[in-house]
Amino acid sequence: MTSLHATLGFLLALCLPLAAAGAEGRPAAAPGWTGVKHAKEIITARQELMEHIELLMEPIDTLTVQPVKDPQRVQQNAEVIGAMLLAVPHLFPPTTNRFDPKAAQPETLALPPIWQQFDTFYRLAGLSAQAAETMAAAKGQAQMRSASLALRGSCDACHAVFLRRYEPPKTQESDYKFDFEGALRVSP
Ligand code: HEC
Repeated sequence: MTSLHATLGFLLALCLPLAAAGAEGRPAAAPGWTGVKHAKEIITARQELMEHIELLMEPIDTLTVQPVKDPQRVQQNAEVIGAMLLAVPHLFPPTTNRFDPKAAQPETLALPPIWQQFDTFYRLAGLSAQAAETMAAAKGQAQMRSASLALRGSCDACHAVFLRRYEPPKTQESDYKFDFEGALRVSP
């Protein structure tokens, strides 16, 4: 009897997490659902993607303050950014909703409202990709300048709601008391 109970208990313990996962709408752990097994790598991938989008934006941001020097480079960058932005919303499966407000360096800056208003998030990514395509097609200084502002505006629109704002680290009193000279002194 007791061993039967133990067996039942063991089976229940096995089944409960599966049932709970099903209730959340999580896909079964079939190969290919990368969100189940590779959540951390997905977060790294989307951060890398964003950082490289930022690098590609450099000549595009610059043309708002000075005459465009290399229109071909601007056009190529805008096309690549557009393609990258098409991938962006697919790198946010619910298993990557892992923002920790208490962490000094959270593993992700993507905020939970993304998964509460996923349609909005998805639409903003699409609009940003469109803005990149418009940038790629723009001709002449005035048109390129306004397309550039619109593209940067589309990044900001999503970040304003869904990205944790950057907070510079606060200086602490202990920083002033720190014994810099002592730390630099080489022990014999
Ligand atoms: C649909 C929403 C959305 C759009 C559009 C978007 N981003 Fe992001 N971006 C995010 C999210 C969410 C993160 C945080 C990712 C993470 O930490 O997991 C992020 C992170 C970043 C980061 C890294 C920030 C940091 O401090 O680590 C940069 C840089 C960045 N985005 C640049 C851009 C640029 C440039 C554009 C426009 C061309 C853009 N993004 C468009 C949502 C968006």
